[in-house]
Amino acid sequence: MQFNGKTVLVTGGTSGVGRHTARLFAGHGATVIITGRDEQRGKAVVAEITAAGGRARFVRADLSTHKDVQWLPHEAGPVDVLINDAGYWELGPTHETTESGFDEMFAVNVKGPFFLTAAYAPLMASNGGGAVVNVSSMVASRGAAGMAAYSASKAALESLTRAWAAEYGPRKVRVNAVALGPTRTPVTASMGELLDTLAAASPLGRAAEPIEIAETIAYLAGDTASYLTGAVIPVDGGRVSAL
Ligand SMILES: NC(=O)c1ccc[n+]([C@@H]2O[C@H](COP(=O)([O-])OP(=O)(O)OC[C@H]3O[C@@H](n4cnc5c(N)ncnc54)[C@H](OP(=O)(O)O)[C@@H]3O)[C@@H](O)[C@H]2O)c1
Repeated sequence: MQFNGKTVLVTGGTSGVGRHTARLFAGHGATVIITGRDEQRGKAVVAEITAAGGRARFVRADLSTHKDVQWLPHEAGPVDVLINDAGYWELGPTHETTESGFDEMFAVNVKGPFFLTAAYAPLMASNGGGAVVNVSSMVASRGAAGMAAYSASKAALESLTRAWAAEYGPRKVRVNAVALGPTRTPVTASMGELLDTLAAASPLGRAAEPIEIAETIAYLAGDTASYLTGAVIPVDGGRVSAL
């Protein structure tokens, strides 16, 4: 897998799956643009990449704010690959979900990717093609108590993946998604043993390391996946495939 001469924008690149994805693309020769709200974490990831001989920069943007979503492509410039990784969730019963929590989940998980793709897919097409990879969750296709709004937001992202594949495929822009199972990242560290309990139910019997997700994302974005579009790839240790 080589990304020499390619520019890759990773939303959520300041942490977890996005951080490992940014490092992996940079290691394969890409110039990486990392975005998130936390400037300190963003700069730390840039420092990790440059210390390893890679090229990266951080652009601060809050994807729950439409103004930032519109501004980001102007600041970041053209890219060959867009990774819509940034995600937000508030878990709890439906009857306790607040309007602000609901709105933020749909802003970060659906509206942000929607308008970033709206800005970038035509640009990629006019540059000869490109790739978008959306980061979804196994709960998009399975019922999970306490995750109704989050699951629905990821289901919307998977629906958009198929719609964009149909819309931009004729112009050589491929769009795919990964649907994650339990993955060991800073946000799931707070779940303690619950993460391992959830992961134990999968055939592989363990949580994913973020690099295992990053490897699939990079594969989907690369030329070796040149005939793959509109797919949602479960990267969940077999969790949704097994009884
Ligand atoms: N870990 C899992 O078990 C799991 C399972 C299924 C799906 N996922 C999905 O995988 C993706 C990555 O999650 P993760 O586990 O790596 O979580 P993480 O370590 O908490 O990273 C989340 C990233 O999203 C960014 N983000 C959140 N809200 C944002 C906002 N308003 N504006 C801009 N950036 C924002 C954060 O950046 P800043 O804090 O710098 O803003 C951070 O870089 C998410 O889409 C998540 O839904 C994760």
